[in-house]
Amino acid sequence: MTAGDAYVNLISDTQTRPTEPMRRAMAEAAVGDEQRGDDPSTNRLCEMVAELLGKETAVFLPSGTMCNQVAVLVHCQSGEEIIADETAHIITSEGAGAAALAGAWVRPLKGRNGIFSAEQVRAAIRPRNRNAPRTRLVAVEQTSNRGGGSVWPLAAIEDVASVAREHGLALHMDGARLLNAVVASGVSARQFAAPFDSVWLDLSKGLGCPVGGVLAASADFIDEAWRWKHRLGGAMRQSGVLAAAGIYALEHHVERLAEDHANAKLFAERIAALPGIELQPPNVETNLVFFDVSGAGLTAEQVVAGLLRRGIRIGAEGEHQLRAVTHLDVGREGVEQAAAALVAVMNEAK
Ligand SMILES: Cc1ncc(COP(=O)(O)O)c(C=O)c1O
Repeated sequence: MTAGDAYVNLISDTQTRPTEPMRRAMAEAAVGDEQRGDDPSTNRLCEMVAELLGKETAVFLPSGTMCNQVAVLVHCQSGEEIIADETAHIITSEGAGAAALAGAWVRPLKGRNGIFSAEQVRAAIRPRNRNAPRTRLVAVEQTSNRGGGSVWPLAAIEDVASVAREHGLALHMDGARLLNAVVASGVSARQFAAPFDSVWLDLSKGLGCPVGGVLAASADFIDEAWRWKHRLGGAMRQSGVLAAAGIYALEHHVERLAEDHANAKLFAERIAALPGIELQPPNVETNLVFFDVSGAGLTAEQVVAGLLRRGIRIGAEGEHQLRAVTHLDVGREGVEQAAAALVAVMNEAK
């Protein structure tokens, strides 16, 4: 929490406010016209992300959602099919953009904590005939948000990628929280990204920036992505003030994600033993903690309200499911306060 905050805010890692040094970097950013390729800070950010992910080049976009949608538009023609986990953001939270914009639809797989297997992909690929939709793309979310912040193991990614390649499918990674996976696993971003044709990072989540995502791929792919960025109104002008936040975050906010993971684990440990609470999944790998309160005879909304009265904000994810997310603006003390408040809410309900 920063001074003056009334709440410990565990709603999402999107709730961070830019730190003072990040704001200074933004204020002092060298800028130009992004649409013309003349914004030096945006160019630098894109080079950094392309290098980090081992891709030829990258493009700065206003949001992670636009990164997913632009990638789908480049990969898919109307009538084609995307394979993704049923919990994927691309399915649950993008206004059916794949269908509405690209005319593609998504075939949902029932993975385990957001992670599906190569066998599931193989079974979902349509036969090549006139009747079936044409399977085109496999999309992986690293980490899986609604899978509980779970980290796709590199071997699982490589297995899925090899089936996809065997069938001539393209591969896309929603890397909204890829750097959380990197810090949690010790596998480099470049290794995780290697099998994918397109991959992006969100700046406005754990990295603590106010705006933006960066989509990386081959030069040809990004050329096409630029056409969609422009068409959708995502081309900017002096975007360097935003890109400077991203540069600052990549230089200062990556390793510290380990603190968010430790705080999430601490919160999970404190609440795991409470009667009526079930962690889902039981093992917290990164900064997301999902838990179910049906065993306590409570709804998620009742718990949210009880916590709010005690100065804690967390989100309801379903009738009985809640999600707490650790980030830059909540330290160990805030997490301990949140766990104590949850104990009080549960005791009150008894
Ligand atoms: C896994 C995942 N993908 C994509 C997004 C979309 O990112 P943005 O909010 O920057 O549009 C989110 C946001 O919560 C997310 O969790």
